[in-house]
Amino acid sequence: MQLYPEHPVGENTRAFLERAGRMLIGADWVGAASGETLAVIDPASGETFARVAAGDAADVDRAVAAARKAFEHGEWSRVRPVDRERLLLRLADLMEENAQELAEIEALDNGKPVTMARHVDVALAIDFMRYMAGWATKIEGSTMEVSVPLVRDREFFGFTRREPVGVVGAIIPWNFPLLMAAWKVGPALATGCTMVLKPAEETPLTALRFGELVLEAGYPAGVLNIVPGLGHTAGAALAGHPGIEKVAFTGSTEIGKLVGKAALDNMTRVSLELGGKSPVIVLDDADPAVAAAGAAQAIFFNQGQVCTAGSRLFIHKSRFDDVVEGLSGIAAGMKIGPGIDPSTQIGPLVSSVQQKRVMGYIDSGFEEGARAATGGAAGDGLGFFVKPTVLVDVRDDMKVVREEIFGPVVVALPYEDLDEVARRANDTPYGLAASIWSNDLSRVHRLIPKIKAGTVWVNCHNMLDSAMPFGGYKQSGIGREMGRAVIDLYTESKSVVMML
Ligand code: NAI
Ligand code: MG
Repeated sequence: MQLYPEHPVGENTRAFLERAGRMLIGADWVGAASGETLAVIDPASGETFARVAAGDAADVDRAVAAARKAFEHGEWSRVRPVDRERLLLRLADLMEENAQELAEIEALDNGKPVTMARHVDVALAIDFMRYMAGWATKIEGSTMEVSVPLVRDREFFGFTRREPVGVVGAIIPWNFPLLMAAWKVGPALATGCTMVLKPAEETPLTALRFGELVLEAGYPAGVLNIVPGLGHTAGAALAGHPGIEKVAFTGSTEIGKLVGKAALDNMTRVSLELGGKSPVIVLDDADPAVAAAGAAQAIFFNQGQVCTAGSRLFIHKSRFDDVVEGLSGIAAGMKIGPGIDPSTQIGPLVSSVQQKRVMGYIDSGFEEGARAATGGAAGDGLGFFVKPTVLVDVRDDMKVVREEIFGPVVVALPYEDLDEVARRANDTPYGLAASIWSNDLSRVHRLIPKIKAGTVWVNCHNMLDSAMPFGGYKQSGIGREMGRAVIDLYTESKSVVMML
């Protein structure tokens, strides 16, 4: 297989693409019970370059049974914390040894620039695995001085234990396929859970390669099971499965609500990381060139297919024209091309569906009176390209300002004072992230508590760290992944009271 003769992929990548296609259940690579497969499409050309098993409810049943067996009875149920740490470090080392291959697979499957895939997706996934390895030996309960007022003539001793929640179902999206897998698998493996992972139908490949590395690292059969498949079949079967104790979901708010409701029927624990419409707020003291470069990175990174994308750009009116001009210049100069070309800055969107959705939003903006300072059109060629787009002449009530677009499209809005911009920034059902651009410390500090969002960046955007909890206010989700907070999502607390 040679997709782009001018940008050859490595031997290992080629070999993986030849053998990829089956799902991981227990320690076995198997086809779907139905025999069905899904096409894996190259977003830069629209061509099918691989096929993978299309799992559905029957396969999810098999995978949950394998995960249950590993959790309750297998070797994994006796693995000590220090061994969980060692295994995770070994897995991280294997990811590092295969980093270039993982990046190439991600670039072909998702369309994202391979350089980004290597230095963001793969690098952050490895870093997070190492961070979670450290937690394996640091999961603690507390001891309590208990009084038990009911029984006054006896002594009691109380303590809490943190226990793995059990079998976890993880449903992940296509925008950061490997990294989202790592965000779910890392905490599960650190805490002693087992997992059934369903990658997005658009991007199943890196999860499957990751599954090979998990086995190579020495994890017992059934600790991680991977079932690619469609959302309404495999995904729905997993979310509503009575045999899992927790579901971890990243994706759209619409599907997140369905997943949450299905989970609640079984009282399955649930964490949801959902959409956003994150504001970028440029104060009047900000250097317009710095703000323009920051705003470009905030929206165009990963073709704008980022839950925290800075998609609403609020600029103080005194700086509006300068920042819009700077941003539009950067956007117009970005090199568009296939992700596998190392010089590409903007790759295609993940799918033809996503390209149509984003173009539909741009057209709705035009119909409501917006104007493109730059972009506003699909890219050339057969791939799912959209030109980096800056929309001006927009009003707060327009669809392009209210709804998550999930593409390289930013709306620029002038404002006059800080109370006004805080109110408008919060005037959204979402609350995932925000950034503030200013060196005026007291105004920045006054603004931070007013912003209803799970993350606020100052003079930067999209800067994630394994130690920082990540998640949303409002309809951006429930729960915090990463940091110390993620341990709570993957464990139950057990209170023990002893009468002495
Ligand atoms: P989606 O929410 O449908 O897909 C995310 C995951 O959920 C995929 O694995 C999918 O197979 C699964 N899924 C779909 N329907 C399901 C169901 N009924 N039950 C269980 N799982 C199900 O997102 P989609 O359709 O790919 O993208 C639509 C929009 O969602 C995007 O335009 C964007 O606005 C938003 N989105 C947000 C993401 C984020 O990181 N917050 C990631 C992906 C999409
Ligand atoms: Mg969907």
